[in-house]
Amino acid sequence: MFNNRTKIKELLQSDKTDYDVIVMGWVRSFRNNQFIAMNDGSTNNNLQVVAELGKFDETTLRKITTGASIKVAGSIISSLGKGQKVELKAKTIEILGESDADKFPLQPKKHSLEFLREIAHLRFRTNTFGSIFRIRHSLAFAVHKFFNDKGFVYLHTPIITASDAEGAGETFHVTSFDLENPPKNDDGSVNFKEDFFGKATNLTVSGQLEGELGAMGFGEVYTFGPTFRAENSNTTRHLAEFWMIEPEMAFSDLDDNANLAEEFIKYIIGYVLDNNKDDLEFLASRLLEEEKQKPLQERSEMGLLEKLQFVINNNFERLTYTEAIDILRESNHNKKKKFQYIIDKWGVDLQSEHERYLVEKHFKKPVILTNYPKEIKAFYMRSNDDGKTVAAMDILAPGIGEIVGGSQREERLDKLTERMKEMNIPVEELSWYLDTRRFGTVPHAGFGLGFERLVLFVTGMTNIRDVIPFPRTPKSAEF
Ligand code: 4AD
Ligand code: MG
Repeated sequence: MFNNRTKIKELLQSDKTDYDVIVMGWVRSFRNNQFIAMNDGSTNNNLQVVAELGKFDETTLRKITTGASIKVAGSIISSLGKGQKVELKAKTIEILGESDADKFPLQPKKHSLEFLREIAHLRFRTNTFGSIFRIRHSLAFAVHKFFNDKGFVYLHTPIITASDAEGAGETFHVTSFDLENPPKNDDGSVNFKEDFFGKATNLTVSGQLEGELGAMGFGEVYTFGPTFRAENSNTTRHLAEFWMIEPEMAFSDLDDNANLAEEFIKYIIGYVLDNNKDDLEFLASRLLEEEKQKPLQERSEMGLLEKLQFVINNNFERLTYTEAIDILRESNHNKKKKFQYIIDKWGVDLQSEHERYLVEKHFKKPVILTNYPKEIKAFYMRSNDDGKTVAAMDILAPGIGEIVGGSQREERLDKLTERMKEMNIPVEELSWYLDTRRFGTVPHAGFGLGFERLVLFVTGMTNIRDVIPFPRTPKSAEF
């Protein structure tokens, strides 16, 4: 057995001294030919390894370079130096993998996020990305824990589908055709009947429609998987491949939906506050440094931890789209034409500048906006009695904008088919979906939370490419 190591996190958590351990990890720095800062990914805190002068041969010492992997056996002693309670006094040091210091791109200094994005395959070895992805892991774990504890069934919805759940036409095609020479129909169009699945297929944009099928049997389900959108939005908030959490609940209306979403967000943020203190504190101080570069009026009023505490301790603001439009229309920002898109009438879609104005300037807290005009929302949302709006719900977060999109679903077969026809959604092809309404339909609701947008919010990062291990964006699918 090779792996008889103790993880650094465990060693640093305890005050215990005078016992022997084996530790393996990567060298972050080596100073005075004596002190190795060693990291194994379990925590941002490095273990100080002391290689007593004169005890180790020159060849070994020369190979202790930034990025090299080493195995150290020795004893844990209390540290004389500042910054750590214990350190490892090395008895033996074995070089597992050398790293040419002149060629290794990561040096013991601060690198820009842009540079690290170019070497995303190595950025897991930095403190910032160590913290981000350990937090991402914890958030994912908390998602499952939250729903499991509530008795939701985790339903694996398909990645390859034949439907465009959102009806937005932003799908990636899936085909096994030779693209140079696909079979054609008489009219020259591609004959998908001959394709692998016997029809045109695409990568899923949302697991919702399948989630609804599950909810009609299990009562409450959730999905948590990758979703794909070929929207050409090159922003700091959009990915072509992102992860979405989509609960779907039978016997629920819009209020139940909003209550669950708020409870859910607070729970998972609380979970990382309880379990990822070191990583959050690291990112909080990182953010503080960044903020110092900004002019005073642009700095955030709260630190990262304060902001997260605030979110879990305060109610989200709830209001309707109509109320939001009134606030925006009457705002000085609008009157002074500071918005790129001026709000002049009811019915317009909100841009992220408007969403951010509401959460950051007006309410200064997360906002749940409900009952949007039906024209700007998807076909499956339940019509309200006013004939103009649907039982939609978006949650907007400070610094992010839309983080959740959801709705009560149209459970009435006649109303749903009518709306599908109006919006040119293929009723025949979605016959399986309509079966939920034909046989034992019930009021039901659900939402989708963009996982990366949540990770952005929790880590205080500002570019979505920095909170997913391998970002896929327009013109970029590296690694
Ligand atoms: O608002 P959306 O499009 O809603 C749905 O897909 C519904 N079917 C969800 C449901 O009711 N089950 O997307 C949901 C969330 C957004 O609020 C946003 O957080 C995130 O997914 N999202 C993206 N995140 C990153 N990159 C993109 N391109 C995103 N598009 C949506
Ligand atoms: Mg949306």
